[in-house]
Amino acid sequence: MRTVYCGEVNESHVGQEITLCGWVNRRRDLGAVIFLDLRDREGIVQVVYDPDLPDVIAKANTLRNEFCVQVKGKVRARPEGQINKDMKTGAIEVLGLDLVILNKSAPLPLDSNQTNSEEQRLKYRYLDLRRPEMTERLRFRAKVTSAVRESLESQGFLDIETPILTAATPEGARDYLVPSRTHKGSFFALPQSPQLFKQLLMMSGMERYYQIVKCFRDEDLRADRQPEFTQIDIETSFMSSDQVMQVTEKMIRELFLKLLNVDLGEFPRMPYSEAMTRFGSDKPDLRNPLEITDVADILKDVEFKVFSGPANDPKGRVSVICVPDGATKFSRKNIDDLTKFVGIYGAKGMPWLKVNDRDAGLDGLQSPILKFLTEESVNTLLDRVNAKTGDIIFFGSDTYNVVTESLGALRLKLGEDLDLLQGEWKPLWVVDFPMFEEVDGQMHAIHHPFTAPTNLTAQELEANPVGALSDAYDMVLNGCELGGGSVRIHNQDMQAAVFRILGISDEEAQEKFGFLLEALQYGAPPHAGLAFGLDRLVMLMTGATSIRDVMAFPKTTTAACPLTNAPGKANPVQLTELGIQTIAKEIKAD
Ligand code: AMO
Repeated sequence: MRTVYCGEVNESHVGQEITLCGWVNRRRDLGAVIFLDLRDREGIVQVVYDPDLPDVIAKANTLRNEFCVQVKGKVRARPEGQINKDMKTGAIEVLGLDLVILNKSAPLPLDSNQTNSEEQRLKYRYLDLRRPEMTERLRFRAKVTSAVRESLESQGFLDIETPILTAATPEGARDYLVPSRTHKGSFFALPQSPQLFKQLLMMSGMERYYQIVKCFRDEDLRADRQPEFTQIDIETSFMSSDQVMQVTEKMIRELFLKLLNVDLGEFPRMPYSEAMTRFGSDKPDLRNPLEITDVADILKDVEFKVFSGPANDPKGRVSVICVPDGATKFSRKNIDDLTKFVGIYGAKGMPWLKVNDRDAGLDGLQSPILKFLTEESVNTLLDRVNAKTGDIIFFGSDTYNVVTESLGALRLKLGEDLDLLQGEWKPLWVVDFPMFEEVDGQMHAIHHPFTAPTNLTAQELEANPVGALSDAYDMVLNGCELGGGSVRIHNQDMQAAVFRILGISDEEAQEKFGFLLEALQYGAPPHAGLAFGLDRLVMLMTGATSIRDVMAFPKTTTAACPLTNAPGKANPVQLTELGIQTIAKEIKAD
């Protein structure tokens, strides 16, 4: 129906007759002449109808915004003073010779000034996606998937699909369940990731697998989390963690170079313990120059129990963040607000100290806790953080977790509030994660239970699980976890030991993962892999602030779809067929 896209008409078409199809972005009547901004996926072009063709201009007069039309016309150069340099097609216009109204449009339920709520945008997502900004993001996403395929296929990776109706995979979130009609009372789980299948594919000898694949997790949603999201999922045989990091880093570097013309350079590697100590996060944003500094050794002998208590407790942490030039930026009210902020993370208070004049000794300092500290300890502390006149220091003193989390969050907040971020792209690998974390006496896998420990036998691991490091790695970009992976356990004894440490009984292990344990018996190769969050990658690359903005049809933060009204009620016949009875919510009378 068309000969050229609106957004692609240019000076080379001058003098030609063309046919365009698209939507009326805007109609302007200038006396006898009508101007249309005609829009399609590729952009906008100006069409002019003049009074020489009375039938056509009469039809053009009936056009309203978002009518879908076909325009035949002749391309002409715009006169000198009317060239629009801000528009891709601004050097030309199309003199309309014919017009077919393909479909009328009712006035849109979305406000063209973009004051729509997200709920409204999602309800009319197909209209929201007409916005060039949204179209552009989806186009960019398509370019990313295409470049990912090109990069991985050139390195010998095979795209292999894995089941969506499957058994539970332990990635730590709740499963979405699908009832089985043929096995009443039994359920499939939608995959939280293809983790176990990709490992099985290595055992089949596929060597290098990848898949751009939907994953499903019923978890609390945030700007970078959706219940249904897409992974670039990768697994390899006979590769060390180093090699997997090299292959996947190469892919990300190629993507940035090809699509953004950005050279990310070689990614630094940072042990997990260093990330937590210096940045209070396992996904540090290295654009933020603020760092956390430990000072327990300096404050362990002061009389002030708020400091000396945690400083002498092996599970405690006493640390500071020094904010250069911050002394005059924070009023009492600001500091109270920040204290409330760290309270969200469990901090019971937030002592502070302003360095009004570094050369004036204690007299040059201002702090409600100064009277509790010795001059020597204060000086050592100021030296350690390299404090200068005009700086402010915030203290955290509590359990290790409270201080790490609260100062980690404070660092991010101050970085944003004070506009401190430096550089555009700061990627890194976080490595040497602990295998497990202990919560209320119960061990949990930090990655997933198929992650191999670094240089340990099964016996050594069982003897000291808390101290064990895993051969796992996360790729972090600008404070966002882009992807994570690990070397896998390929030996049955080690897998059984990890299940025992996690408190998974032999019986449960057999029931849930018996097929994996069995598969490990038949010459399973050493294997390792990683999965990237495609949505997060595209979000960062396009500068969007939520992954919802780079998905065609995302869910709301309460995991619903206002467009289709999913999830919805099942009809009673379906439920009977599935052998399912719903429990009516009891309404309690007051
Ligand atoms: P993990 O659980 O770390 O690892 O997930 C890998 C990456 O997927 C993205 N991601 C999400 N993106 C959007 N919404 C979500 N709810 C969501 N959850 C995770 C993140 C994350 O880094 N099987 C392992 C990988 C492996 O070991 O190979 C796994 O799924 O970007």
